[in-house]
Amino acid sequence: MDDLIKLTNKLQTVVSSINAHDTLDLPQIVVVGSQSSGKSSVLESLVQRDFLPRGSGIVTRRPLILQLVTQRQPDGSEYGEFLHTKDKKFFDFSEIRQEIERETSRLAGDNKGISRMPIHLRIYSPRVLTLTLVDLPGLTKIPIGDQPSDIEKQIRTLVMDYITKPNSIILAVTPANADLVNSDSLKLARQVDPEGKRTIGVLSKLDLMDAGTNALDVLTGRAYPLKLGFIGVVNRSQQDILTNKPMPDAVKAENEFFKQHPSYRSIANQCGTQYLAKQLNQILFHHIKDKLPELRSKLNALISQTQQELNQYGDPVLTTGTMHRGSLILRLLTKFANDFVAAIDGTSSEMS
Ligand code: GDP
Ligand code: NA
Ligand code: MG
Repeated sequence: MDDLIKLTNKLQTVVSSINAHDTLDLPQIVVVGSQSSGKSSVLESLVQRDFLPRGSGIVTRRPLILQLVTQRQPDGSEYGEFLHTKDKKFFDFSEIRQEIERETSRLAGDNKGISRMPIHLRIYSPRVLTLTLVDLPGLTKIPIGDQPSDIEKQIRTLVMDYITKPNSIILAVTPANADLVNSDSLKLARQVDPEGKRTIGVLSKLDLMDAGTNALDVLTGRAYPLKLGFIGVVNRSQQDILTNKPMPDAVKAENEFFKQHPSYRSIANQCGTQYLAKQLNQILFHHIKDKLPELRSKLNALISQTQQELNQYGDPVLTTGTMHRGSLILRLLTKFANDFVAAIDGTSSEMS
């Protein structure tokens, strides 16, 4: 299963390097929600590392396209790489956070402004499932700092750009201590996915609900219809962030929360970040599998187009002795196309 998704990630790299990203329209998981609903925290929990700027107020001010790649290094190390810092490997995850902050300020300024230009980050780790995730600025209503008066519309448009794509999977985050009926993320998700086929509800901050109340009706699907359901999570609190609560402790505490809670005990095995990660991988796998034939024909079209261009201009390999970019791309594309055929064959025999 992971091989299949890894292939897609590779393909994405090739395609984005030739500027044809939109033609392939690859699946990705997009996190949507109001400001401070816990979007960045949910992503961090999925990655099981501290590396995203989080906190109260508007912290995420540029889209972050995060590719997770399962990779086992001999020494067990994990690292990150940004597109804008080329081959530099970040082994220290707090440096990744600093780099995101620096790169955010560079384009979006220091005072709460936003930019629609994405930051591209890859994380290689043996502990992640191979997934592409997108973190977005939170939906907000009232401009603050340097934000323009139409900030609400700007962020809405930005979010819509990502979630409108029919093969994006929407992670709609709603804090459990707010009213589900007023959830901005669910409202937007419903606009682009009225049948709720590619929206997965995430109910955050379950630990912050008023004493005596619970969200069992939401988590069991009685309160709001969503085909892929709602998954409850407990992320680290602001206090946990300040005291640097280690990720494994946070996961343990989250699992304990659900196991001990009188209302959630009976559904504890369908709650929490680990369950969310499993569900996401499952959804992504089926999504990619459904898309494979379409990806293949687009890829084939791209190959013949590249071939035609090469034929037209001649192959400079012969004339200059250096590998022409077009030839290289063509070779990579052809290799990927072959890998895709193998993947499809492998998948269909595995599934039947
Ligand atoms: P974002 O703006 O949606 O990306 O939200 P963040 O992930 O930055 O979180 C905003 C604040 O809410 C931070 O202080 C987090 O520590 C806190 N927070 C997020 N999720 C939870 C949760 O499940 N429980 C608690 N207690 N705090 C949370
Ligand atoms: Na925030
Ligand atoms: Mg955020």
